[in-house]
Amino acid sequence: MADISRDVVVIGAGAAGLTAANDLRKAGLSVAVLEARDRVGGRLWTDVIDTAMLEIGGQWVSPDQDALIETIAELGLTTFSRYREGDSVYVGPDGVARRFTGEMFPVAPETERVIAEITERLDAMVAEIDPDRPWEHPKAQEWDEISWDAWLRAQTEDDEAVRNLAFATGSAMLTKPTHAFSLLQSLLMAASAGSYSNLVDADFILDKRVVGGLQQVPLLLAERLGDDVLLNQPVRRLEWNDGSVVAETDEHTVRARFAILAHAPILYNRISFVPPLPRRQHQLHQHLSMGFVIKVHAVYDRPFWREQGLSGTAFSPYELSHEAYDNTNHGDERGTLVGFVSDRNADDLFTLSAEERRERILESLSHYYGPEAKNPVVYYESDWGSEEWTRGAYAASFDLGGLHRYGPDLRTPVGPIHFACSDMAGAGYQHVDGAIRMGRLVASAIVSASRESGAVLESAS
Ligand code: FDA
Repeated sequence: MADISRDVVVIGAGAAGLTAANDLRKAGLSVAVLEARDRVGGRLWTDVIDTAMLEIGGQWVSPDQDALIETIAELGLTTFSRYREGDSVYVGPDGVARRFTGEMFPVAPETERVIAEITERLDAMVAEIDPDRPWEHPKAQEWDEISWDAWLRAQTEDDEAVRNLAFATGSAMLTKPTHAFSLLQSLLMAASAGSYSNLVDADFILDKRVVGGLQQVPLLLAERLGDDVLLNQPVRRLEWNDGSVVAETDEHTVRARFAILAHAPILYNRISFVPPLPRRQHQLHQHLSMGFVIKVHAVYDRPFWREQGLSGTAFSPYELSHEAYDNTNHGDERGTLVGFVSDRNADDLFTLSAEERRERILESLSHYYGPEAKNPVVYYESDWGSEEWTRGAYAASFDLGGLHRYGPDLRTPVGPIHFACSDMAGAGYQHVDGAIRMGRLVASAIVSASRESGAVLESAS
């Protein structure tokens, strides 16, 4: 058992925790980062599976994600654009694959008109939402008490329009059934990306990737912290009072003036707080839950779809894999497709054997790209639902009514305990950009608090 003293103990070595730790160090405070896993990065994880380099977790960067873009540049990493030459594919209710270009799916003219009109309405509503404080909108309560599905169905009877509109924040982002979260939660998701239109624009939201994988961001941030990052150290107990904390793992005790809980809020209850967190936090944390999506990687000896003039971009609210993209690595001769299976479809798939799952998913991909899609040389399913220290994907969101009720206290510190995670971000919500923003925010709050208290800081030992 080692006894360590630092100014700040950071719990979790994901993008949020490592950003906070680096910022605190720069401000002259000493840190220890305790990470449960045997690696850093959390939901950012690049690995080689059967000879293919795969980004098992987060990977894309969009042009509005300033905090992530700055970090990537500062770490000396380079980016490349997602392949997008050629036609996209849409599969409608008749099961027919249709090619299209631009953002509007090839639907009937009346459906197209309805989608465009509701999109305009949504953009106007989103423009009124402050992603950092969606609960302050005058209609926050009203919009938080109606489900995303019910609101859309009240706008139109066109089922295909509803499914396509619902998709952007539903299967594609919050990865929950659209009856399970509110209109307000949906507007927050869109506001966090600048607008609803940005969110449905794959060329915007899925713009770039980092050469070598996005996990390099946490890997390089951790490298700067050296021995102050301790792996295989799940924090089991956090004792706290107004002026100090003691974090305990199975091997270490870290005494500090502040703690940062830098992981998904659904995991707070894995830690015994002594004394317990206040009742408000006990309540609010129970109203958050993780979405669930399977990210499917299929690698082929060549990007065969490009030969057919296809970009690889494919959507269908009627398909098991509701969206799929060309995910070929930078400079790779082989071609990679990435597909996503979300919420109830993901639940259902995990009742099947691995072979049946693979068959069903590849069958779905073949509806977009033809029979060749059924024969990848490497196939892999990212299953974050079975990861003890994540438990879902992509991130956590509130249940119906929870956002306006509890959102204002999501980031409120409890004594010396501060909270930082992508799952509580405004801009960049549920994304790495949001994790970095939250890491920065919490570090600056702690630096201010420690200056205000005027106490002598512990120096790194
Ligand atoms: P994160 O969960 O990454 O880190 C928390 C860390 O805390 C983990 O390492 C965990 O092990 C640790 N921990 C938990 N409990 C602990 C305890 N008790 N003691 C010690 N350590 C503990 N984003 C994006 O911008 N672009 C994208 O393309 C995607 N795509 C995507 C795909 C998939 C499949 C996933 C799962 C996620 C994405 N995302 C994404 C989301 C993005 O990856 C995510 O929002 C951030 O990486 C979250 O970073 P955080 O640091 O907030 O938490």
